[in-house]
Amino acid sequence: MKFDLSVRGMRDYYPDIFSQLNYIIRAWKETALAYGFEEFDGPVLETLELYKIKSGEEIVNQLYNFTDKGGRELALRPELTPTLARMVSKVQNQVSKPMKWFSIPRCMRYEKPQKGRLREFFQFNVDILGEEGEMADLEIISVAIDCLLKLGLSKADFVVKINNRDFAAEYFIENGIIKGNTHALYKVIDNARKVKKELTRPAINELGFSVKQEDAIENYLSLSNSSDLAKLSISNTGKESLLDLFSLINNAGLQDYCEFDPTIVRGLDYYTGTVFEIFDRSEKMRAICGGGRYNNLLKEFSGVDLPACGFGMGDVVLGEILSDKGMFPVYQKQVDYFLVRVTDNELELMLRIARSLRSRGLTVEYTYKSLPVKKQMSKASKIPAKKVLIFGADEIARGKLVEKDLSTGEEIEVPVDSLF
Ligand code: HAM
Repeated sequence: MKFDLSVRGMRDYYPDIFSQLNYIIRAWKETALAYGFEEFDGPVLETLELYKIKSGEEIVNQLYNFTDKGGRELALRPELTPTLARMVSKVQNQVSKPMKWFSIPRCMRYEKPQKGRLREFFQFNVDILGEEGEMADLEIISVAIDCLLKLGLSKADFVVKINNRDFAAEYFIENGIIKGNTHALYKVIDNARKVKKELTRPAINELGFSVKQEDAIENYLSLSNSSDLAKLSISNTGKESLLDLFSLINNAGLQDYCEFDPTIVRGLDYYTGTVFEIFDRSEKMRAICGGGRYNNLLKEFSGVDLPACGFGMGDVVLGEILSDKGMFPVYQKQVDYFLVRVTDNELELMLRIARSLRSRGLTVEYTYKSLPVKKQMSKASKIPAKKVLIFGADEIARGKLVEKDLSTGEEIEVPVDSLF
């Protein structure tokens, strides 16, 4: 090819790759439906304003935006949560609560493409709206875990790391650490998971805190499990919520998949209480999934006070993991019947039988051009079709067709009438 005209960070879904995407999407959908979630979708284009409300000008660098011919500032959706909040605020007083909705939007982000991170991806969104409390948090974590199990992964492959934004905020307020913007501090905290231990203190140091405050941040980062948390002698609503959630996690038998991790604070600004991310145990890639509670987002959008929680799970990281572990089913085109005609005199009957078999849900193919029987048979074997039906004048005169099973080579005669 002279030029590669593809766009950076986008993907071409050839049939074998598309079958992998479908494999993931099927697991997502089946799991959400099993929990009673309803599917919805929003538009691909939203106003740029929708994303700026919560995240400010900064978000503009991370998404695709443009001015349309009518002078409107628009953006391609980088995520679904703002759309969901916008949509729900319009209908929430007509719908019974809790609302349990899921969607699989194609999202676009203007990020630097790298392993596990692209500019275009599918993202499974599962959200519960109108329900406060840890049972809803447990439910969404449980959906996320079940999806991964359905795809064949096990507790040895992934871990759900859980924290609570209120716990972190209250801890830092109590220690006199939070003043105004938490962005820089949370960035260091989030990074602490990814960098060598000795690099964290200098990073904290750059934030300009006192030694006592730096120690308090280090103590926070040293909390390594829920028993450490229970031992903390502070009264903190976020801590109580976390302990309640971990107790429910035990009740649900999900304790082997979940752990407390103080470094999980989530980059997006709208999270309030429970926050979580799921990683592959090797932690070589970005998170498979991220989510949590966002109790104030709807209020900020539309004045509607509706608690909410949910997660987004992308297909890219998940696809890499399943690929690396050889866990995708081998791609195989499925054809039930290949119809072979000896001459075009049998074409009309063949076309009618093809439609009849397809109406029964079977996959049927044939050659479009007239070809020698041998060539048609070799096309059937190449696919490979499961069975071949041979349309020969002599058999048709007796009301029969020859059916050949390509895996066993066995041939039988079937009555033409039985195929209608
Ligand atoms: P997020 O953490 O930005 O959360 O994204 C969730 C997941 O989407 C990530 O863990 C990752 O798997 C996938 N993802 C994000 N960006 C990319 C990218 N550039 N390339 C490939 N995959 C990506 C949210 O989007 C929240 N709105 C999720 C949510 C729903 N929270 C509550 N409800």
